[in-house]
Amino acid sequence: MPLQPSPDPAAPTPSPVATRAAELAAALGPLARDFALDWVSECASTNTALVDAPPADDGRIHVLVADRQHAGRGRRGRQWLSWEGASLTFSTLWRFAPGAPAPAGLSLVAGLALARALEQLGVHGVQLKWPNDVLVHGDKLAGILIDLLPSRGRPPAAVIGIGLNLRLPEGHGIENQTGVTDLAQALESAPPAPPAVLAVILTEMHRLFDTYAAGGFPALRGAWQQRNAFAALPVRIVSDDAIRTGICAGVDDDGALLLRTDTGMQRILAGDVSLRPLTGDAA
Ligand code: BTN
Repeated sequence: MPLQPSPDPAAPTPSPVATRAAELAAALGPLARDFALDWVSECASTNTALVDAPPADDGRIHVLVADRQHAGRGRRGRQWLSWEGASLTFSTLWRFAPGAPAPAGLSLVAGLALARALEQLGVHGVQLKWPNDVLVHGDKLAGILIDLLPSRGRPPAAVIGIGLNLRLPEGHGIENQTGVTDLAQALESAPPAPPAVLAVILTEMHRLFDTYAAGGFPALRGAWQQRNAFAALPVRIVSDDAIRTGICAGVDDDGALLLRTDTGMQRILAGDVSLRPLTGDAA
C-alpha cells in the first residue's frame, strides 16, 4: 500500500469560506481559471461591494459570494432578505467589449442563464417573469439585480447579483407578493451544497454571455420566450410614472417587454409585471 503523506499538524485549518471557495473552484473544473473567486462570511451587499470597489481588470470574471448579507438590495430600491445557509447570495462583475449589445438584453440573459442552470439541477416548471425573476409554478425562487458601472471611457461593465432561496426558514417573513419558494421545495429533496449549485450557475452564465456577446439578445430571445411566465396573458405593469395594462406579447430584440394594448403595441423598458386579475378590475 502506498504511503500517504500525513497531514502537517502545524498547517492552519482552512476557514469554512476558503473551503467553500476551493469546492467551487473544483466543481468549475478548467473553467475556474476564467473566474476570480472570493467567498466571504458576511458583507452588507455583494452588489454594493463590487460597485463601490470594482477589482482591477485582470481578464477574469470576478465573483463575490457572501454567506450572510446584512443590507441585501432588491430591484427598484427594495430590500432583499436572506439567511445564512438558507440562501445563496453572490454577485459577478462582467466586462464587455466596446460596442457590446444593449444592457436591457443583458438583464434577460442573466435570468435565462439562471433558469437553465436550475433546470440542469433538476427543477421542473421554471419560468421567467420579465425582466428576470425566476419562478417555479408561479412562486419566486430567485431574483437578479443588475448595476451598470459607469464606464468613464472603459469597456462597459455590469455587476450581476443573484439571490437564490435554498431552504427558507419557517416564518421567513418575506413579503408575499407572488409567493416565494425555495430550491428544496422545487426539487422535493435536499438541495446540493452551495458551491455545487453556484458552479452550475456560473458555467451557464459563462456560456450564455459568450452567446450574447457574439449574437446579442436575438440569439437567445426564443429560449427566453419559451419560459415567459405571462406569455399571451393579461398583465398589469407598474412603473415609476404609470400603470399600464394589456396582453403580454413577449419581448423585443433588445429585451423590452411587448405589451399589446387597445391603442397598439407598447415597448416597456422598466416596471413590475403582474398578472391582471380577471375580476373586472381593469386598472
Ligand atoms: C430582486 O428580485 O429584487 C433582486 C434581488 C437580488 C438579490 C441579490 S443577493 C446578491 C446581490 N446582492 C444584493 O444586495 N442583491 C443581489
